Amino acid sequence: MITSKQLRDNWIKFYESKGHLNIGAVSLIGDGTTGVMFNVAGMQPLMPYLLGKPHPSGKTRLCNVQGCVRTVDIDAVGDATHFTFFEMMGNWSLGDYFKKEKTAWTFELLTKVFGFDKDKICSTVFEGNASAPRDEETAELLKSLGIKEENIFYLPKKDNWWELEGTVGTPCGPDNEWFYPREDGKDSSDFLDGNRYVEIGNDVYMQYKKTENGYEELKNKNVDTGFGLDRLLLFLNGLTDGYKTDLFIDAVNYLEKVSGKNYDADEEARKAIRIIADHTRTSVMLIGDANGIIPSNTGAGYILRRLLRRSIRYCRSLEISSEAICGAAEIFIDKVYGEAYPLLVEKKDYILDEIRKESKKFEATLSAGIKEFEKCIGGIERKNAFMKEKDSSYVPETEISGKQSFRLYDTFGFPLELTEELAAERGFTVDKKGFDEAFKAHQEISKAQAGAAKGGLTERTEITQNYHTATHILLAGLRKMFGTNTEQKGSNITEERMRFDFNLDHKMTDAELKALEDFVNEVISRKIDVVRSELPYKDAVSSGAYGVFNPTSQDQIVSIYTIGDVDKQICGGPHAKNTGDLGKFRITKEESSSSGVRRIKAVLE
Ligand code: ALA
Repeated sequence: MITSKQLRDNWIKFYESKGHLNIGAVSLIGDGTTGVMFNVAGMQPLMPYLLGKPHPSGKTRLCNVQGCVRTVDIDAVGDATHFTFFEMMGNWSLGDYFKKEKTAWTFELLTKVFGFDKDKICSTVFEGNASAPRDEETAELLKSLGIKEENIFYLPKKDNWWELEGTVGTPCGPDNEWFYPREDGKDSSDFLDGNRYVEIGNDVYMQYKKTENGYEELKNKNVDTGFGLDRLLLFLNGLTDGYKTDLFIDAVNYLEKVSGKNYDADEEARKAIRIIADHTRTSVMLIGDANGIIPSNTGAGYILRRLLRRSIRYCRSLEISSEAICGAAEIFIDKVYGEAYPLLVEKKDYILDEIRKESKKFEATLSAGIKEFEKCIGGIERKNAFMKEKDSSYVPETEISGKQSFRLYDTFGFPLELTEELAAERGFTVDKKGFDEAFKAHQEISKAQAGAAKGGLTERTEITQNYHTATHILLAGLRKMFGTNTEQKGSNITEERMRFDFNLDHKMTDAELKALEDFVNEVISRKIDVVRSELPYKDAVSSGAYGVFNPTSQDQIVSIYTIGDVDKQICGGPHAKNTGDLGKFRITKEESSSSGVRRIKAVLE
């Protein structure tokens, strides 16, 4: 039995003994220079140094254990060996040692430290093509170390060449991959069958740079090694299910316990537990990262949202509350990763809070969304049955329209991929192009509305000015009650009433509505002057002014409206001169506007 901690330590100790500096891990979130959203490989942050820039440490031998997030295979999660987060144990030579030392060290590590039988180790090398020669040098070195000739295979570029897909100007090269049979007595010629042989790791000989048209030789000959900790841990412990290693077992046991389901016996529950465990771990890592993100509708935040919403959906299939995600998250933080990733412990409350907020938001609409989804499918199925009766050659429809999937997204918060997954379970597909079109059309309408409304005002009369000032006081009250992350999500004012949208995770209670109304009326009765001023954007923000505003530069002069100690917003106006002009404020309605957004309608009397 080897623990994850021992494995990390073994790796670092071994390479330190070969003169490597442990450089530690960097953020999981891409810095924008590589074109990928997340750190997908240990080499990613080292790219400039593999291309020739001296490493800041002054060293040319480096090692670490680096967290990576790969979400391309997210749909495969649920089986025994796919994860969206994993740790890569790596080491590098920046123009220092090359194939002779590298093959010898990997061989030593596998046979001496991990106890692999050299007669069973299989290794693959690059067979060569027009860009780079056949890697006979590595094959010869492997043989001289004692690896059997019949266990060394030459393979083409698709198997034995490593590069970051879709990039240009990045380092790459042929690689030497290491395999080991799962069981004794198998014929090694079929080692590429993933069930019988496990890929232990790979040594990439990075001596090329990817160009627009091909490859260019680098000045330095580098080595880039990557061994997946999760996979090796599994294998070294004689397991075939990655969720049985010490990285997952506690979370799995916990989910088994709260759901009352049997992981080993119940295939459906097993899949759900694996998905929740995997996605929760990745979410914890992404929120708790040094450059941590939170769920949102764009970029990396959207991937995080997908992970969490998918987990929430699987909680539902286990018939447990999404609070279980927090329970699992706590296990990952306290028991599994806290020591290796101390920032997670520091950010624990924050991480749990973000997960809880997202869960609440989605749980509130999930059931209604599933009902809506069933309605879509039911409608299509009924139509199919009807048509089939009339015409036996009728080809049934199996596609959910873009409009329907957009409604699930916009009103019920279903990521498109979730709708696709639900659809696939019923043998349906989703019209993705149609979804994109519906999405774009919606954006255009919103933009046009925003343009016409110019800050929520359709007409500028004294009355609408008063209403506008009332929205500022209302928002100030909401921020007092629910925190300063409460933001305006929309506003519409007529001569008769105001309508105001804002983010909030629950329906406001009568007591809350009363308190809010009282707050606004109290500010009105104080007869406070509404004062306009102008400042460069950055000074406005540092003075405490807020507002949904995208400046063209930090120095852009913006207009600010201040209502005494009550409110200070970046806003184009116009406004009432004094709060005393507003009359009596009364809330007429509070309702949901969209997922996580509430709407208040109110009048000034
Ligand atoms: N860069 C190589 C990998 O990611 C080591 O597998």
